[in-house]
Amino acid sequence: MKIGVIGTGYVGLVTGTCLAELGHEVICVDALPQKIDLLNDGGCPIYEPGLIELIRKQRQAERLSFSTDLAAMAPDRDAIFLAVGTPPGPDGEADLGFVRAAVRDLAPHLAGFTAVVTKSTVPVGTGDQIDAMLADLRPDADVAVVSNPEFLREGSAIGDFLKPDRIVVGTDDLRARETMQALYAPLTDGGAPLLITDRRTSELIKYAANAFLAVKISYINEIADLCEELGADAARVAEGMGLDARIGARFLEPGPGFGGSCFPKDTDALLGTGRAAAVPLRVVTAASEANRERKRLLAARVAAVAGELKGRTVAVLGLTFKAGTDDMREAASLELIPELQRRGAKVRAFDPKGMEAARDLLPGVAFCRDAYDAAKSASAVVILTEWPNFRTLDLKRLGAVVETPLLIDMRNLFHPEDATRAGFDYVSIGRPAVAARAPKPSRRLRASRPTGAAA
Ligand code: UDX
Repeated sequence: MKIGVIGTGYVGLVTGTCLAELGHEVICVDALPQKIDLLNDGGCPIYEPGLIELIRKQRQAERLSFSTDLAAMAPDRDAIFLAVGTPPGPDGEADLGFVRAAVRDLAPHLAGFTAVVTKSTVPVGTGDQIDAMLADLRPDADVAVVSNPEFLREGSAIGDFLKPDRIVVGTDDLRARETMQALYAPLTDGGAPLLITDRRTSELIKYAANAFLAVKISYINEIADLCEELGADAARVAEGMGLDARIGARFLEPGPGFGGSCFPKDTDALLGTGRAAAVPLRVVTAASEANRERKRLLAARVAAVAGELKGRTVAVLGLTFKAGTDDMREAASLELIPELQRRGAKVRAFDPKGMEAARDLLPGVAFCRDAYDAAKSASAVVILTEWPNFRTLDLKRLGAVVETPLLIDMRNLFHPEDATRAGFDYVSIGRPAVAARAPKPSRRLRASRPTGAAA
């Protein structure tokens, strides 16, 4: 089939490239010539494992190309995906400016039956708005507007696309339904469930799913706080909960609070939708507030065990919002580090992929060549992102360069005994803190987990 994709951001590039991998002929269009030039030169504007290789493969197979020429792309496409950004507006609701601009640019060039598919995460009712725009701009056009939300996780987006838990398609149009069924046949033939709904339902599924996962994470984070006070182990609590098939084991890892381009933005957008519809979404409100507060109090968490931070050095390992990406959006580091600095600490940091993006966002930080370099003279080493390489850090070597052997592991990468054996006082999330060589929680380490706004 002949596919067009508008927008070569994260979603557009992964979608276009993976659709080419399914055997379709795909043209990705972007208004920014520098992006298209980079892609045509064999580069890639984002870091996503395996993406650049797959782009190369599909370009060689002549199934994938990049262009700024929307007029040339649009007329003969079976489906055109809208994959432009929907950034949060001033009140948290999604700003549809780029979506509307893309529809306006596209409308004059539509010819023959075309499914116009929203891949960007858009509020419920956006499909109706696009329908109305197209009816106004091109009453003669033979189009059907379809919702087809993406569920890609950064860092594993290609696998998520090619082996999806489900594909959701929202349309009442029969031809659009057949187009989408044919488009995804290579995946559904392989067993991927395809759920076809009306358009509004499909649009809401995306928000409802993301908000549910956000609730799940905020929930386990609060249970983890409770575990720290009660001397229970949050990982085992999560394991015990997750074995219940009604709950499921995934997305129950406590940490510094969720970040990224989707969960914070989509929960806020859903709350905006709820307000507009006068439907209180109390559970989602609580999850969103708990997460914001958790990230705000990260520095207080450090100070509670490290003591006075003024003039001392804190090493931060991991800056991106999660491992496997160079994305800094809503990363916990953006909350923790400025607050450490405000408290007078010097911050040395290392991240395997995120340092380029972090440089502009985190002034005053010493960006280091590796974790050992970052840990030099540190009074506390904080692990903030779960990069696999951090799991295999040589803790003895790390201990030899720090000023104070205090490891605050906000991703639970280490077994507490391994950390204490290497000489570290070890504080993790949802497990009792342990002092070096002392099997029982030390009073100093247990003393003062921050609570509430006073911290
Ligand atoms: C998410 C959704 O998973 C995906 O379906 C959607 O399309 C886009 O948003 P992404 O933002 O790439 O994907 O990352 P994800 O792996 O979901 O993690 C989001 C945040 O939650 C990260 O900050 C991560 O560290 C955190 N998280 C995740 C936890 O703290 N604990 C967990 O158990 C899982």
